[in-house]
Amino acid sequence: MAERTFAIIKPDAVERGLAGEILARIIKAGFTVQAMRLQHLTRREAEGFYAVHKERPFFGELTEFMSSGPCVLLALEAPNAIQKWRDTMGPTDPAKAAPGTLRRDFGQSIGRNATHGSDAPDTAAFELGYFFRGMELV
Ligand code: RTP
Ligand code: MG
Repeated sequence: MAERTFAIIKPDAVERGLAGEILARIIKAGFTVQAMRLQHLTRREAEGFYAVHKERPFFGELTEFMSSGPCVLLALEAPNAIQKWRDTMGPTDPAKAAPGTLRRDFGQSIGRNATHGSDAPDTAAFELGYFFRGMELV
């Protein structure tokens, strides 16, 4: 059964001109793009998005980075999309990710790790709704 997840091509990857290559990987992996937008997040928008991490020591650095330049925001659909996208990205730290995963191939560090993906059905629902209106999800 088709499922939707929310993904971001983060500012480090957009800035380095990697968005096209990452999008090609997304399509080749079998996802369909349901909605897509280029957006430079404000600090407040990044803080609202990552609110679950607000007590973490890296929250300031994370939200500063996420609002440092434009991102590509995506709604992706596939069977088992949430887990499939996490597997396509690889683990948070690019140094621990397997070759062929997006974070290994395009990430530079745990902070500058190229992509984001929802980690569960409830976070996917929150994150899709945070950035996309129902009407935009074709
Ligand atoms: P994301 O939410 O971005 O898809 O990443 P994730 O689930 O793999 O990792 P999460 O624990 O949700 O952390 C969110 C982002 O915060 C940055 N981070 N920095 N300096 C650190 O120890 C640290 N830990 C996490 C990463 O950029 C991570 O993607
Ligand atoms: Mg996360």
